[in-house]
Amino acid sequence: MDLRITCIPGDGIGPEIVAEAKKVLNKVAEVYGHQMQFTDILMGGASIDACGVPLTDEAIATAKAADAVLMGSIGGNTTTSPWYKLPPNLRPEAGLLKIRKALNLFANLRPAYLYQELSGACPLKEEISSKGFDMLIMRELTGGLYFGERKTVEENGVLKAIDTLTYDENEIRRIAIKGFEVAMKRRKKVTSVDKANVLDSSRLWRKVVEEVAKEYPEVTLEHMLVDNCAMQLVKDPAQFDVILTENMFGDILSDEASMVTGSIGMLSSASLNDTKFGLYEPSHGSAPDIAGMDIANPIATILSASMMLRYSFDMDKEADAIDAAVRQVLQDGFRTGDIMSEGCEKVGCKRMGDLIAERIQ
Ligand code: IPM
Ligand code: MG
Repeated sequence: MDLRITCIPGDGIGPEIVAEAKKVLNKVAEVYGHQMQFTDILMGGASIDACGVPLTDEAIATAKAADAVLMGSIGGNTTTSPWYKLPPNLRPEAGLLKIRKALNLFANLRPAYLYQELSGACPLKEEISSKGFDMLIMRELTGGLYFGERKTVEENGVLKAIDTLTYDENEIRRIAIKGFEVAMKRRKKVTSVDKANVLDSSRLWRKVVEEVAKEYPEVTLEHMLVDNCAMQLVKDPAQFDVILTENMFGDILSDEASMVTGSIGMLSSASLNDTKFGLYEPSHGSAPDIAGMDIANPIATILSASMMLRYSFDMDKEADAIDAAVRQVLQDGFRTGDIMSEGCEKVGCKRMGDLIAERIQ
């Protein structure tokens, strides 16, 4: 197959981890006889420095013309980087929000599971972590608070900031369908997370999710309030299969879920629209403090490349080969610093990429 992939190396550790993911993809192409064409675009701070804005229209056009987009990470140190002296709509994160909206990437899939080899890094008590867990957070990505109208006004000498949280039933329905579809391929359980005891948007969310659930009689649906869900994630993470939730709740809960896996450096994500097109990125940020030191963990980006093969190109065999190579490297005892434990061999970012690429078969 001929695959056209747009890459966004981005900022911080982004360029290093994307280079390792490309290395692994090239190995997959070689072993399985595919052609992969990579085109880089700028986004975030790198684009601000070169073009004055965090994402140009040309970059969006290049992304749209590809079959899929593979991203590293964007952004810098929010207290020291000059990017954060710019108005909010010109900062690195605005580029990410803009590309999600421009490509209509409304469904964000964030899997979180505990590798047996890394269970020592899990911050939970052993009686909880020994049960293991394997969940997928289905986060709505182009609506809600992050895309509502916002402004700061002064009223009678008092500053007032306003953010608006809006969802219409169509936005809820399409993400709910994605949630149930993915649950059908997993353990057939959906936990829909909302704040229906307070918010109207959550009450509509619950109503629409219940309607969609009728089309999936095999799937068990439960509703959970977001504050309770935050608690359950550390108390009994094994209870979750698919967590279906709105944009901000999903942002927060997915960081929490990733942390209980032991390292955010292991977690991939996919952002999808209604076609096969998607943007794939690690769940973690740009870690500017360790950028350029060849110590970042490239595994989350490599696993995001695997999700890309699976979801955008229907290449399950090739995706399985990447996932197996990652597991093999862990079994063979190689670790980057963030997941290092006694008795293992510590390796850098490039070496980790080499070791995974070598194990692709
Ligand atoms: C994420 C990030 C982004 C988000 C930021 C950088 C805008 O936290 O992908 O989770 O909140 O969506
Ligand atoms: Mg986040």
